[in-house]
Amino acid sequence: MASYLQIADDEKGHELDLFCIPRHYENDLDKVIIPHGLIMDRTERLARDIIQDMGGHHIVALCVLKGGYKFFADLLDYIKALNQNSDKSVPLTVDFIRVKSYCNDKSTNSVKVIGGDELSNLRGKNVLIVEDIVETGRTMQTLLSLLGECHPKMVKVVSLLVKRTPRSSGYRPDYIGFEVPDAFLVGYALDYNEYFRDLSHICILNDGAKEKYKVINHKERPLRCNGVQGESFVSPFD
Ligand code: PRP
Repeated sequence: MASYLQIADDEKGHELDLFCIPRHYENDLDKVIIPHGLIMDRTERLARDIIQDMGGHHIVALCVLKGGYKFFADLLDYIKALNQNSDKSVPLTVDFIRVKSYCNDKSTNSVKVIGGDELSNLRGKNVLIVEDIVETGRTMQTLLSLLGECHPKMVKVVSLLVKRTPRSSGYRPDYIGFEVPDAFLVGYALDYNEYFRDLSHICILNDGAKEKYKVINHKERPLRCNGVQGESFVSPFD
């Protein structure tokens, strides 16, 4: 079973004013729960573990957008550093897929693939799926089943975070950075309705922010949001 760094349910986190937080988010967060430096240190070790297991073969790293982009970029930098500084090296290519299932703080129960590279390119390849967070596990199970139809040679999944939640399907990735409490987390590319990706640390969102950045239902505002007809997305900064 994958080892991981556990963030306990009663973890108090760190006061915001001990870290550099963008001014525009200062009132939206409760605590810093995983500082950026710790994310990087854990990612460095994940890179080593992955190369030890999957090394020797060409790896296609598949980034699950949008939430996975920061972790993907940093993980690949660490893998590149290992490649540059050891006798053995692993050829690495990259692919991208865009998957969406959350609106406000809830899973919509429908996982949509709304863009990215052609998955059929992955036939016969060793694929490493790189994801930011597994909550219910529905996104990853959907993606794995889609990918299975394309007959890759091997598929491994690395997720920076796995949430301890009663909503989990029980799915666990092959590599896990941190196991985290059942709170709404943002930062390091994890978003709430597209905001907070531009925050370096992983933080707990407060209840006021959930209201402030909420997507309004179509009955109140007949526009579109996230490709879903009938919802709108109004910037609290406009
Ligand atoms: C988030 C996250 C995962 C998924 C995990 O994506 O990036 O892909 O939810 O949730 P699950 O395990 O309950 O399926 P989201 O739909 O918010 O899209 P995003 O990556 O563009 O933020």
